[in-house]
Amino acid sequence: MDKYSLDDCRIIDLDKHHSDRKGNLCVVENGISLPFNVKRVYYLYDVPGGESRGAHAHRTLRQLIIAASGSFRVTLFDGKDHKSFYLNRPYQGLLVCPGMWRDLDDFSSGAVCMVLASDIYKEEDYIRDYNDFLDFRNNG
Ligand code: TYD
Repeated sequence: MDKYSLDDCRIIDLDKHHSDRKGNLCVVENGISLPFNVKRVYYLYDVPGGESRGAHAHRTLRQLIIAASGSFRVTLFDGKDHKSFYLNRPYQGLLVCPGMWRDLDDFSSGAVCMVLASDIYKEEDYIRDYNDFLDFRNNG
């Protein structure tokens, strides 16, 4: 199986439509904006200040993480390097490849973390134990 690295994860600019009088609109469309088709959308909200989420990796799932409102930090770890992305623009998304340990923290008040995912929810795709993750990266 392909092993993705941090370099494969990046910020994507979404298709933004601006109107001076009426505000902004962003579009994400299958087959155009993303290197995967979206099968599921979920979002985190009302995350208390100082709380963190994530602390897992996915075996195959691809995701686009968007700060639909407010801001938060996403720290990715590919088993070798760490990289943090501070998301605070609703017209950008962070593309997260499979096999990345992620921690989300520093949520602002009112932050909405919207996730577009390449598959439906499958618990067996999660790696929730850190040592299992290191094993997956080094030997899997
Ligand atoms: P989890 O992925 O652990 O949340 P986070 O990484 O943001 O801290 O999910 C929290 C709970 O929600 C867990 O019991 C599984 C459930 N869940 C679903 O049922 N469907 C989903 O699509 C997601 C993402 C989570």
